[in-house]
Amino acid sequence: MMMKRLPALPLVWATLTTLLLRTTTASSSPSIAALAQRDDDDSKNASSAFVHSTVYGNITFAVSTVTQTGDLYFHLEAPADNSWVAVGSGKEMKGSLMWVVYKSEDEKGITLSPRTATGHVEPSYERDIPCNLDDTEGARPTGIVDRNGKSYFIVNALCHNVNNRASFKRSLARREADDLDSDGILNFDNDKQNFIFACGPTDRHLHDDSKEVGIRRHTLYGGFTMDLKSATVESSIDAQKALAAFDTGAWQMKNAQLVSGPEKDRDWSSGIHSLLMCGTFVILFPIGVVFLRLLEKVMWHAIMQGIGVVFIVIGVGLGIYVGREYNQSRTVRSAHQILGLTIAALTLLQFGLGLTHHLIYRRTQKPTLLGKIHLYLGPCVLAGGALNGFLGFRFSGGSYHNIMYGAIVAVIFIVLAGLLVWTARRKKTRGRRKAGGEAYEGFAHRGADTGYAGRDHIPLRSVPSEEPPPYEAARGVQPRNMV
Ligand code: HEM
Ligand code: HEM
Repeated sequence: MMMKRLPALPLVWATLTTLLLRTTTASSSPSIAALAQRDDDDSKNASSAFVHSTVYGNITFAVSTVTQTGDLYFHLEAPADNSWVAVGSGKEMKGSLMWVVYKSEDEKGITLSPRTATGHVEPSYERDIPCNLDDTEGARPTGIVDRNGKSYFIVNALCHNVNNRASFKRSLARREADDLDSDGILNFDNDKQNFIFACGPTDRHLHDDSKEVGIRRHTLYGGFTMDLKSATVESSIDAQKALAAFDTGAWQMKNAQLVSGPEKDRDWSSGIHSLLMCGTFVILFPIGVVFLRLLEKVMWHAIMQGIGVVFIVIGVGLGIYVGREYNQSRTVRSAHQILGLTIAALTLLQFGLGLTHHLIYRRTQKPTLLGKIHLYLGPCVLAGGALNGFLGFRFSGGSYHNIMYGAIVAVIFIVLAGLLVWTARRKKTRGRRKAGGEAYEGFAHRGADTGYAGRDHIPLRSVPSEEPPPYEAARGVQPRNMV
């Protein structure tokens, strides 16, 4: 009996409540659809969004904040053609809390690296900044998404009690002395909170799971303000809902405006450094060798190598200057920098040796030990300098340049070696034919040339030796010392 009566009770109860609900909703409250609509509108209104279009696609940064907890939720969409994209608090790099995003190692996910910078230098990862990808229930997914043929970083992240981080407190304590940008501290009541954004270069391929990985200087940066007051909600659920209220790609500018930039930016010092250094070791110095060995123009050789030395000094200066911008090079301890400094010092030494030998020779007309060292050190310096170029490209994260650079180095050095061998043979043959005649293969009649200083056509000796080879003497040729 009981079994039969039981289902009837809930049925009666359901009918009664439905009737009751219908009458009450019809008379005094909005419909369920209207409630859902209002809920949706509330969510849509509970965020602020900055949208900026770049040639690679839109950058969208939307936030929703929970005042009670100090939590900040943000949604970031940005073109993944850029090696990295970042948004930070405040008006400038110094003192800003930056959220730097790039591809994860497998290039499917995102690495979010919260960083701070002390100025116009690479920001460093701050372990105690409580910002992470939002993987809590209800959060929308994060990853790399293709849209309209373009690839985008899609990031949903959460900063717990965002201003309460040890590093910021430390910075605040030092603020007066340090002149910290106080705008870097987020104020949820601020209707014009300053933010900055920046995009990394597109010619570097960055994919890493490490939050500490080195990033290259931006190619674009700017600043915007955002109304955080309007983006305040009651709870985390509301914040997540607010950021899920729009589909990716459908966000519009809301309670925000661009206030500075966008500025295009380029790290010229790095490019000029590589141009001067590689250009000198791979092109200028080899041309100087050609002047000496093939054309026997000592003065041109000296001038060319002198220009090269000036370029090397400027290049090293730029290397030290650009090194200060990046975390990996700030303290000069990489193989590239140490080898580079050694090679640069040897280049100066090489120039000094050549010059001193020249001056002594002018007086004595005799070969010198310095000249001998100059002769053997030259090829080592050239090869070491060219080799360091490979390390340089690797060091700056541009290893892919090494294929082109390697091809150029190979062609130039093979051609140079070929020319030297050819010249040596030609001079030898010519020298044999003209034995007793003019200068050949670096050996000349003593009487035929009286001092080369100030002349362009200067006979040279290709083999450094104090004494001439005996067979030459047999032909009546007097050896002439090398210049
Ligand atoms: C390797 C990393 C970085 C380096 C070496 C670097 C370097 C620089 C330099 C040298 C300037 C001055 C440019 C000029 O005067 O024309 C600058 C400005 C700027 N950078 Fe960076 N930056 C880096 C990363 C970032 C990141 C991650 C952001 C994040 C949003 C950012 C945002 C800005 C902004 C907004 C400016 C203009 C405002 C200011 O002067 O601070 N930078 N940066
Ligand atoms: C034989 C001498 C050298 C050669 C041939 C050379 C060449 C290069 C090259 C090709 C690059 C890559 C640049 C780029 O990708 O844009 C580079 C990067 C670099 N070099 Fe050198 N370099 C030499 C010496 C030095 C010295 C003496 C220093 C400083 C002590 C130095 C510091 C740097 C730094 C810091 C970078 C990285 C810059 C960046 O990340 O943009 N280099 N070098």
